[in-house]
Amino acid sequence: MTIDQYNFNGKKAIVRVDFNVPLDENGKITDDTRIRGALPTLKKILADGGSLIIMSHMGKPKGKVNPKMSLSQIKDTVAKYLGTEVEFAEDCAKAAQQAAELKPGQVLLLENLRFHPEEEGKPVGIDKEDPAYDAAKKEMKERQKEFAKTLASYADVYVNDAFGTAHRRHASTAVIADYFDKDSKMLGYLMEKEVNAVDAILKDIKRPFTAIMGGSKVSTKIGIIENLMDKVDNLILCGGMTYTFAAAKGGKVGKSICETDKFDLALDIIKKAEEKGVNLVLGTDCIAADDFSNDANTMVVSCMDVPAEWEGVDAGPVTREMFADAIRDAKTILWNGPAGVFEFDNFAGGSRAIADAIVEATEKGAFSLVGGGDSVACINKFGLADKVSYVSTGGGALLEAIEGKELPGIAAIRGSEK
Ligand code: 3PG
Repeated sequence: MTIDQYNFNGKKAIVRVDFNVPLDENGKITDDTRIRGALPTLKKILADGGSLIIMSHMGKPKGKVNPKMSLSQIKDTVAKYLGTEVEFAEDCAKAAQQAAELKPGQVLLLENLRFHPEEEGKPVGIDKEDPAYDAAKKEMKERQKEFAKTLASYADVYVNDAFGTAHRRHASTAVIADYFDKDSKMLGYLMEKEVNAVDAILKDIKRPFTAIMGGSKVSTKIGIIENLMDKVDNLILCGGMTYTFAAAKGGKVGKSICETDKFDLALDIIKKAEEKGVNLVLGTDCIAADDFSNDANTMVVSCMDVPAEWEGVDAGPVTREMFADAIRDAKTILWNGPAGVFEFDNFAGGSRAIADAIVEATEKGAFSLVGGGDSVACINKFGLADKVSYVSTGGGALLEAIEGKELPGIAAIRGSEK
């Protein structure tokens, strides 16, 4: 069943979205890409004459109520984009009455699903080593099913449009699908678009293929880095992980981010790239700062020789040129993770060089996909989001999809779960 084939007239639809959007200290949304991404699905349901129950998580409240992660903070934005009032259910597990009262065209937003530990289905307050852990896990899995059943009871039809959370096998992303028959569960438009974008990267790759991976830790990106090495022609590794590579090669990195226990891993990546004939592009020079602030003193130094009290915060001019060279003639481009502390204008130059080269390549016909919260915030900050082929709302989900892993949120709908 696809969303286009379904007529929501007179139906109540429960839609899992990923409205895990970044908020500032006053609870104001700083990037609403994910909310805008889900609008086509939400609007189609309302336009058909259906009513909407919207559910999402926000942050990692670990099964406890936490007002800082309340979805009430985004209610007005959702209402503004939908052009209609939005009701709020303060406890997602006690919304039966409000759901039952919904009339066609009305919208109910449920409070953060993760305020209930059943959403993630992991036992809380018990260590994995504890002999009682297995029993606690089993019990929690039963509670998770009950929780999913409660959510399912609110609606006639279930739509999953939460690509950003599709890599999680949670109550609202996967387990709930068991409580709807195959004609009453479907993926939303955003899911379909995201899956097509991943397919454009993975199937029939147009070469050269350049992937740009940033981020502070090699360890969290190792799976995708190793996987990409079988696919790409050029692999740019940038951002904080630059300094782990430099230190692994014997460089001095001062106070830069550095995973001192990951040197073997870094050297192994360099070796594997050589063996596989992948052009691995690592920073050679960087902008070093004497403080973690936009107005810190800065100087350009070798990544192998950052002074003791200084830290690398952005790619240097030579490195930027190397990055641009590996990007501008590419035909397929994947960007995940900025090249520096782009939140500070003075350290956004490396990421800007990457973004400009991606736009140049895209204008020449390349397919470019930008994903992950930081890169998306970065491309939005530069005002270039509409100049790349596709901006994904997924972070971890996108990377797992590109690794070729089955995403539980999608498999549960398609009935292809292993
Ligand atoms: C994300 O921000 O990547 C998604 O919302 C998933 O969040 P999670 O990593 O906390 O499951």
